Amino acid sequence: MGQSLHVRDLKAWYGNHQTLRGISMEIPENRVTAIIGPSGCGKSTFIRCLNRLHETTPQGRVEGKVQLGDADVYEMDAVDVRRVIGMVFQKPNPFPTLSIYDNVAIGLKLGGMRDKSAQFERVEQSLRMAALWDEVKDRLHRPAVALSGGQQQRLCIARALAVQPNVLLMDEPASALDPISTARIEELVLSLKENYTIVIVTHNMQQAARVADKTAFFLNGELIEFGDTTSLFTRPQDNRTEDYITGRFG
Ligand SMILES: Nc1ncnc2c1ncn2[C@@H]1O[C@H](COP(=O)(O)OP(=O)(O)OP(=O)(O)O)[C@@H](O)[C@H]1O
Ligand SMILES: [Mg+2]
Repeated sequence: MGQSLHVRDLKAWYGNHQTLRGISMEIPENRVTAIIGPSGCGKSTFIRCLNRLHETTPQGRVEGKVQLGDADVYEMDAVDVRRVIGMVFQKPNPFPTLSIYDNVAIGLKLGGMRDKSAQFERVEQSLRMAALWDEVKDRLHRPAVALSGGQQQRLCIARALAVQPNVLLMDEPASALDPISTARIEELVLSLKENYTIVIVTHNMQQAARVADKTAFFLNGELIEFGDTTSLFTRPQDNRTEDYITGRFG
């Protein structure tokens, strides 16, 4: 099941350059939350702080609090955090030397699941959830890189789901894909939200409006406005949100 994320006064730096200036927000469980805002405003940095990826960047530094349910993410083991808070990136990044099957199974193997039939079951289940099973079930041992871009992205989603996370972070997961593959990813996001908390960064405001229950507008490392997607797009409370969504800047 999904879990909520509570973010309190989150600040992040690359060296001396501060990119997040004190973000506080409540990300609800089993809902889709979209992060929008102009290039460079800190969207990727923000979600990379949620699963402690930012601190792995050279000179990356974080202050503030992130809680997953009742657990303090910054007091957990970082590897455990990245299992329960999975991530999908802009460019599909399957392991190029591994087969379709092994791309999904690798997290299970590393996690110590030795039983082959349990492993196979979880791989099948994950590929089904990612709406990819029917397309790959006859070629599970072919290289993952032989798949199309859209299929590779769904494979990466299956890989993230295989280790049974509570939260799925997606950083512009469809921006490298054609319209049909994009529509499939959007359908997939909607079908997954029953069981996962999803945070999706997108440049595409129509996409945010289609998939997200809640939307957050970021500008220069600050959270300007956060609310129900429909209200944010139809009745923005802040002039800067209005300027952005009406295309006056960014
Ligand atoms: N590895 C890095 N080293 C130094 N500065 C960085 C690094 N990555 C990002 N930044 C800076 O941090 C700020 C926020 O970047 P971030 O990638 O979070 O923005 P973004 O909103 O995701 O932008 P985009 O929409 O272009 O992906 C920017 O000023 C950027 O130049
Ligand atoms: Mg980004």
